[in-house]
Amino acid sequence: MVETVFFNGEFLPKENVSVSPDDRGFLFADGVYEVVRWYSGFFFNMEGHHSRLKRSLRELKIKWDEADSFPEIAGELIRLNFLEKKPVLVYFQVTRGVAPRTHTFPSPSVKPTTYGFARSFIPESTGKENGISVLLKNDIRWGRCDIKSIALLPNTMSFEEATSKGHGECIFIRDGYITEGSHSNIFFVIDGILRTHPESEYILSGITRKNTIKAAKISGIKVEEKAVHESELNRVSEAFITNTSAEITPVIAFNEIPIGAGRPGPLTELLQKNFHEIVKSYAYK
Ligand code: PDD
Repeated sequence: MVETVFFNGEFLPKENVSVSPDDRGFLFADGVYEVVRWYSGFFFNMEGHHSRLKRSLRELKIKWDEADSFPEIAGELIRLNFLEKKPVLVYFQVTRGVAPRTHTFPSPSVKPTTYGFARSFIPESTGKENGISVLLKNDIRWGRCDIKSIALLPNTMSFEEATSKGHGECIFIRDGYITEGSHSNIFFVIDGILRTHPESEYILSGITRKNTIKAAKISGIKVEEKAVHESELNRVSEAFITNTSAEITPVIAFNEIPIGAGRPGPLTELLQKNFHEIVKSYAYK
């Protein structure tokens, strides 16, 4: 079946899309992206994804005049590809646009290049109900991980290394502190308190992360947005990663060392349950 995508203001068959070799996304990875999930009938926290997209654009000074129409474009991609009843991820990216290669931003600015697609998918959590092990590695990324930039080579290289060694995610350590994963945030339970890295330039402000904190508050679980140092890892009783596709996926080992009993813990399971309640609440919004 022909896949309909969004490209520069139009919905068209994917094979009709062509991108200029002078596109700054192609030359410099000069662009941002967003991934939002459709739960077979409704988007989860579209407002959160929409405002993060706008923030990423602002931070890079990319002016996309149609930014307000992102939710409608995402909905159209679902409809035009007959995906309403399926689990879907909508991917959307905006690059600075086409201009002769210079390190300065084009002046006057050019029209950004926009591209989006919707695809049914198997959630990353599938088959990982009993948890994953993660590879701990130095954070080799830049100092603006809060921007959802399309420049993801350190992330893909690190994830590739993790999967080739049999792990489910690569978790980064910067100056001794755990930041986040190659494409997820990470939470820990230490002394009954849920800990995660605070929002900063070293992590992406995950939409699932924010909703996990909400899920903890529902059950009165104490949350501290305070980075965990690697020297504290031996006190961790539970851990899990969060992202749009994996939701809350238990982590049961760091490198080869099991965490606690080496199986998903009770707080993780409670948070998964509360998180699904939050997801369901979007069906009626
Ligand atoms: N990645 N941290 C990083 C570096 C990420 O790339 C992601 C998401 C997250 C979690 O964000 P959210 O909960 O909003 O999905 C954290 C997406 C899924 C991706 O790159 O495909």
